[in-house]
Amino acid sequence: MNIYPMKYLLLIIGFAVSSVVLAGEGEDIFKKTCAACHTIGKGRLVGPDLQNVTQKQSKEWLLAFIKSSTSVIKSGDADAVAIFEEYNRIMMPDNNFSDDQIMAVLDYISQGSQGGSGGSATAATPATDILAETTPDNVANGASLFDGHRRLSNGGPSCASCHKVRDERIFSSGTLAKDLSQTYENIGTAGVSAIVKNPPFPVMQAAYKNHPLTEEEVIDLTAYLKSVSEQRIYQVPADFSMFFGIFGILAFIAIFMSTIILYFKRKRLAVNHDILSRPSKVIN
Ligand code: HEC
Ligand code: HEC
Repeated sequence: MNIYPMKYLLLIIGFAVSSVVLAGEGEDIFKKTCAACHTIGKGRLVGPDLQNVTQKQSKEWLLAFIKSSTSVIKSGDADAVAIFEEYNRIMMPDNNFSDDQIMAVLDYISQGSQGGSGGSATAATPATDILAETTPDNVANGASLFDGHRRLSNGGPSCASCHKVRDERIFSSGTLAKDLSQTYENIGTAGVSAIVKNPPFPVMQAAYKNHPLTEEEVIDLTAYLKSVSEQRIYQVPADFSMFFGIFGILAFIAIFMSTIILYFKRKRLAVNHDILSRPSKVIN
């Protein structure tokens, strides 16, 4: 019996399976890592709509850009710099994907661009403004979630442990990540809510991986960051340096004065001086 046809059949099945797996992987990566900032044919979000981007740019350019947009921009590449400027100099985070993984994502994007299977372009839902019905209560809830007065229902860390905002209503001092005071102005409701719901930054992703935020919390936090961005021009940055300066001078004077007082009240003679100078009645 000739087994060669069998071999070819297996090979073909193998290819089919692996390309399905790869396509699945592309979709998976796109939804987990890119969808927070990009759509395929649904308009711009934080970053550009990626519909037809695979026709606009070469494979090499796309591979390099998706791996490390920052180094492509730094190298002075004209296209990269132009799009970086157009998007308010928002950095797209670098990725650690292999070439194969990125190719899978690009396949997914070009499929979606044709409105074919797997693309999200077909299911274009009209963008609804999730902040349309928010009230000052949402902002207040967002504020207490942000600084940790209220715990997140699935137990993630408070935002203020990594971020700060210029806002006198709450105390925030996180310096691990960006100051979020201006973020809303740059990326809007869609951008903020997408990032909070599905963080594309590795550190933030790790923090909320097993502690996803609820829809309600996403709305509250987005409403809060909007309010921060609108209010921030009225906020005096909490600056304690004057307070600490005056406190320091007062503390110095107090310590100095008490040193002087104690100096004059100090015991000039040995503690046992009185005893020693008593007439000694010791009989030898
Ligand atoms: C935090 C938001 C963010 C994430 C996450 C993100 N991007 Fe981007 N992306 C941007 C921004 C912003 C730009 C515009 C260029 C710039 O500012 O660097 C951009 C630009 C691009 C471009 C160039 C588009 C063009 O028209 O030339 C491609 C391609 C791209 N991103 C692909 C991806 C892929 C693939 C992923 C997921 C692996 C991803 N991006 C994840 C924000 C993001
Ligand atoms: C474990 C640390 C950590 C926590 C906790 C955290 N983030 Fe982040 N976040 C980051 C990092 C890192 C970035 C990437 C930007 C940077 O390098 O600062 C980021 C970026 C963002 C951005 C995009 C900022 C911009 O202008 O591009 C938003 C919005 C954001 N975080 C919101 C939140 C909110 C809301 C919470 C609370 C639910 C939160 N983050 C909690 C680490 C964290």
